[in-house]
Amino acid sequence: MTRQQKPALTLQHINKYFHQPDSHNTLQVLDDINLDIRPGEFISIVGSSGCGKSTLLRLILGLDTDFDGSITLDDAPIRGPGLDRGIVFQDHRLLPWLSVSKNIQFALRNSKLSAQEQQERVQQHIDLVGLQGFEHHLPSAISGGMAQRVAIARGLVNRPAILLLDEPLGALDALTRTRLQNEIQNIWQKEQITMILVTHDVDEAVFLGDRVVIMQPNPGQIQRIVDIDLERPRNRSDPRFIAYRDNILSSFLNTSSTPPSTPPAPRAPLWTTLNGLNVAW
Ligand SMILES: Nc1ncnc2c1ncn2[C@@H]1O[C@H](COP(=O)(O)OP(=O)(O)OP(=O)(O)O)[C@@H](O)[C@H]1O
Ligand SMILES: [Mg+2]
Repeated sequence: MTRQQKPALTLQHINKYFHQPDSHNTLQVLDDINLDIRPGEFISIVGSSGCGKSTLLRLILGLDTDFDGSITLDDAPIRGPGLDRGIVFQDHRLLPWLSVSKNIQFALRNSKLSAQEQQERVQQHIDLVGLQGFEHHLPSAISGGMAQRVAIARGLVNRPAILLLDEPLGALDALTRTRLQNEIQNIWQKEQITMILVTHDVDEAVFLGDRVVIMQPNPGQIQRIVDIDLERPRNRSDPRFIAYRDNILSSFLNTSSTPPSTPPAPRAPLWTTLNGLNVAW
């Protein structure tokens, strides 16, 4: 096997438990997660609220190292956060007192680049996300979609091998969201890095993913993985696209005839688009 064929990221037998505050109980959040992700692959993860998607990203990011199993990046175990992994959250988390360019540059504070190199790198990423002319704006003076583009630039500025995206477009209006889905795809194709996107939007998962990982809750497990064998850019009205979407949605709409013994936890909606209308499941 050549280096290029090796999985960029390997998750083996991941189990994750949380100790419940105020009790001696332990909650299993992830149950035997196994996944090989190829270099440059785009993975979408969908699943109901609370099934452990963000927890899984935190483990990959190295923010939480208290788990069973192994996570390796090019055969090296992940032991903590590193510049080889970037993340974009649902809320942009920009520092309100720093300009657009300073917010992006902030992510370079641990890099070995000179001040001049940092400025060049920041400008390249401002250009990449189409924010030329807004370098000196404060976050309060740009739109939500632009702020998310800054967050994407900040996640990419260290040139990570992997960019993790935790519902990055979840708070945006439908038009901005569609535009940014196209931009994320363009950036992914240009940068040729691995992207792992958590989303509640099945359309978004199919539009962007090489594979869609479907998770199920209690405890969080991979239910199945769907390969999306469609040329890019994908056409959302293509019957094959719609078939993939309906196939994935069927995982969430198959309800058991036995009612759950405990009420389900409140959840964020799982979005899909039917005939141009956003519908929450
Ligand atoms: N630090 C923590 N301590 C205890 N329990 C936690 C902690 N973080 C998460 N959990 C629990 O782990 C489970 C999974 O949480 P997680 O945030 O990973 O879900 P999710 O799939 O990302 O949900 P959502 O779609 O709502 O973002 C939930 O039951 C949550 O309450
Ligand atoms: Mg989450």
